[in-house]
Amino acid sequence: MKILVVGKGGREHALIRSLGDSGEHDLFCHPGSDAIAELATRVEADGVEDLVEWMKANAIELCVAGEESYLVAGEGLANLCEKAGIPCWGPPKEGAMLEASKAFAKEFMKRHEIPTGGARVCDSIDEARSAIADRYPTVLKYDGLAAGKGVAVCGDEEAADEFLGEVFASAKFGTGRLLVEEYLEGPEVSIFAAVSGDDYLIFTPARDYKRIGEGDAGPNTGGMGAVASRQLVDEATLATIEETIVKPTVAGLVADELNYRGFLYFGLMLTEDGPKVIEYNCRFGDPECQAVMPLVKGDLATFCAEGARGQLQPGLLEFDEGWSVCVVLASAGYPETSRSGDVISGLEDVKDARVYHAGTKKDGITWVTNGGRVLAVVAGGASREEAVTKAHQEAAKVTFPGSQRRSDIGIMHF
Ligand code: AMP
Ligand code: GLY
Repeated sequence: MKILVVGKGGREHALIRSLGDSGEHDLFCHPGSDAIAELATRVEADGVEDLVEWMKANAIELCVAGEESYLVAGEGLANLCEKAGIPCWGPPKEGAMLEASKAFAKEFMKRHEIPTGGARVCDSIDEARSAIADRYPTVLKYDGLAAGKGVAVCGDEEAADEFLGEVFASAKFGTGRLLVEEYLEGPEVSIFAAVSGDDYLIFTPARDYKRIGEGDAGPNTGGMGAVASRQLVDEATLATIEETIVKPTVAGLVADELNYRGFLYFGLMLTEDGPKVIEYNCRFGDPECQAVMPLVKGDLATFCAEGARGQLQPGLLEFDEGWSVCVVLASAGYPETSRSGDVISGLEDVKDARVYHAGTKKDGITWVTNGGRVLAVVAGGASREEAVTKAHQEAAKVTFPGSQRRSDIGIMHF
């Protein structure tokens, strides 16, 4: 099959590796990276329209959306693919609004009685202050794509005022509204479902580590690591998640005629009142994908292609029962800044783990850093302990000046 994957990060490197392992395929990627180029041919394009033209001219048989921005760019990647007759594993623009607009997602959840925190959509600082009503902590969310930076959990008025200033006064994320949301407490879990019309398949649950520092301290990042296992969530909780969240969401997508096809990511908080949705994303998680992919067995390429055609075939996949731990190596200065050009050594010494590249580039025959999160080292094991030990041992073999790595990835419960 001729398959094109859209994106350039560690998630796409993991997806491409798994798609490639699932059969004899011709792989392409846009925009891709130097590391991805070792598995797939990079395709240049000037925007989604141009990309879909290229796919049509080159008889691409499946487009897999890794990164979300393309789904809502222009007419939408999946919408354009549909017009061109190319199966696309990723939702049309209307469905991708679940991620692109938090107000849209809230209204969807309210309409379909899906448990989530209460929220009010506000158009001004005054309205937001009145919605907060001096209740702290409060959660403020910019109503649009903000590369993971549009959410602030504010412990007091000063923190809330700072974020309100960024949203309304300086329009840091663009012009848009703001959600004032109820603060929820409990462990977080990421659930991924492959959705195609009214069918779905739940993948292995995962958890990511968002903050830069040990013990979950310091500023938020794109993700410093992840752990994935079927055993991460007990049987009863997973059944509740499926009944109260996954099923009504899939039914809601059908009822609203959103024609959803692709991965759907449920960011959940396991509160005392049961699991609640904190966000939907219309794609796989990063770095959860890097942890989950090694656990997926079977023909992923055919699974995505059939799903994209509206014929989900869960029987094509199986999930390893063990554990998978993904340790991220970030560059000097991350997350405030990131340093590029540092020489990476030790990659060839990693024997018992997969290495996915997120922010690297090839300088001659040498790999150098090229972004905030540089690499993800992923190892598996029958037990959590085995996967944790192996992932950290293998990650320690890879070094570059200023490298940052959390040593509690996979270990810490929260
Ligand atoms: P989001 O971008 O919506 O996933 O939010 C980023 C992070 O903010 C989440 O992973 C949570 O840790 C936190 N968060 C979001 N919504 C809430 C909420 N209602 N209550 C408490 N924490 C939240
Ligand atoms: N791991 C968080 C995300 O992909 O949004």
